[in-house]
Amino acid sequence: MTKKIVTLAGDGIGPEIMAAGLEVLAAVAPKINFDYQVEAKDFGGAAIDRQGHPLPEATLEAAQAADAILLAAIGGPQYNDAAVRPEQGLLALRKALGLFANIRPVQIFPALQHLSPLKSEIIAGVDFVVVRELTGGIYFGEHTLNARDARDINAYTYEEIDRIIRVAFELARDRGKKVTSVDKQNVLATSKLWRLVAEEVAKDYPDVILEHALVDSLAMKMITNPSDFDVIVTENLFGDILSDESSVLPGTLGVMPSASHADNGPSLYEPIHGSAPDIAGLGIANPISMILSVAMMLRESFGEIAGAQYIEHAVDKTLRDGVLTKDLGGQASLSEMTAAIIANL
Ligand code: IPM
Ligand code: MG
Repeated sequence: MTKKIVTLAGDGIGPEIMAAGLEVLAAVAPKINFDYQVEAKDFGGAAIDRQGHPLPEATLEAAQAADAILLAAIGGPQYNDAAVRPEQGLLALRKALGLFANIRPVQIFPALQHLSPLKSEIIAGVDFVVVRELTGGIYFGEHTLNARDARDINAYTYEEIDRIIRVAFELARDRGKKVTSVDKQNVLATSKLWRLVAEEVAKDYPDVILEHALVDSLAMKMITNPSDFDVIVTENLFGDILSDESSVLPGTLGVMPSASHADNGPSLYEPIHGSAPDIAGLGIANPISMILSVAMMLRESFGEIAGAQYIEHAVDKTLRDGVLTKDLGGQASLSEMTAAIIANL
């Protein structure tokens, strides 16, 4: 059956890296007999410019009807003081599709190890996944802004915590069998509930070790002892912060893909980095996060393990061959790097 992939190229370097990701997909598809069609939709700032709204109705409807969604990047300085911001579209899309489970893998490419600001002995063997709750918590609680006071409500239900902790345990079961649940249990009520639920869920996974960590100390250990971790699970805001922090380990945001899953319905795949408006349109952006997001899509939405591995190995080989974009210390353009990856498939 033909798989329907909705693409949201968005803003800045989004359209360029999306094109690169789709070129790689087109190159790998015949090797694995993967039959698909692509439907491109307006999203983010581009949708604000064209349709006055970051998540137009037609975009949401197409996304809901898709088998998977690829998102490149959104945002730009021109929207900083705008009444509607591209980010609102992203949050609305996550909520509407129920994308509660955000998976952000952290791995080190040997060819890029020198880009990491950390000593090589510290990052040796780093291989963990941040599982971030994506549709609850302080992002989606009531926000009140007055001239002299403001508040943001952080709320979690038992069910919301339970389902994200289970995602973490299921992942850990297939990996290093360790879950680190991150909270601020010494202060926050939501965190006290979080820890209780994690303990309850752990009873169903006797083969997986559960450890708890306070977010402040975890932020430190992620840098001093990053190879201690296998699956890190946490609430929305902590996950936002920790996943950016984790990108310091590989030394670049440019190689980090992510997946967001719902209980039912399509998953969404996107780079962790933003829209890099300063280099948009110059043809020098690094397409690897986008290309690896395509690989994640093949594996996690379509069970195309071989296709995902072809892409991942081709990326690894390309980096080892020294074909590097500017952000990675090289001279290759976006199209040169994409062509090299396709040649290595
Ligand atoms: C992310 C981003 C978003 C978030 C922004 C763009 C709203 O930082 O996906 O991590 O905070 O979730
Ligand atoms: Mg973020």
